Amino acid sequence: MKSILFVCLGNICRSPIAEGVARKLIEEGAHTIAVDSAGTGGSHVGEAPCEHSVTVARNHGIDISPIRARQVKKADFNAFDLIVALDSSNYRDLKALGCQNLVKLGDYGHNGADVPDPYFFNGFEGFEHVYTMIESCVNELLHSSQKDSISSS
Ligand code: 4NP
Repeated sequence: MKSILFVCLGNICRSPIAEGVARKLIEEGAHTIAVDSAGTGGSHVGEAPCEHSVTVARNHGIDISPIRARQVKKADFNAFDLIVALDSSNYRDLKALGCQNLVKLGDYGHNGADVPDPYFFNGFEGFEHVYTMIESCVNELLHSSQKDSISSS
């Protein structure tokens, strides 16, 4: 596994957190896996992550503020080894675009559960839960991809 793309709807709340967590864990583990994030929708293209995502990541020592939202494109499906959808709606939208190398983040230790969309949460409450779930799943994903690369080498 050389590259992972995390995809949610807006690329301003959940997938930037996943990108930031993955980048940190990859750096800590001295691995060389490229990570990026994108949204299925285009309504927030060019925007920084939402304030609460920036805050919750910063509380955990991760700066996601430089990330800028972009919309996923079909070329991403070839450019990245693995596309990771944050919820089942993102998964369906990506499948409809023809994405094959697709998994759901919740498949990693959370029985396929959706990462809840915090965009409509009231205030900061909920973002800590979202962060904890994303961190746990990304950890599991990186461990399982390491096992895959060991067993296939
Ligand atoms: P995200 O959250 O998919 O986690 O970035 C959302 C961001 C924007 C919207 C919905 C969800 N929106 O409807 O604009």
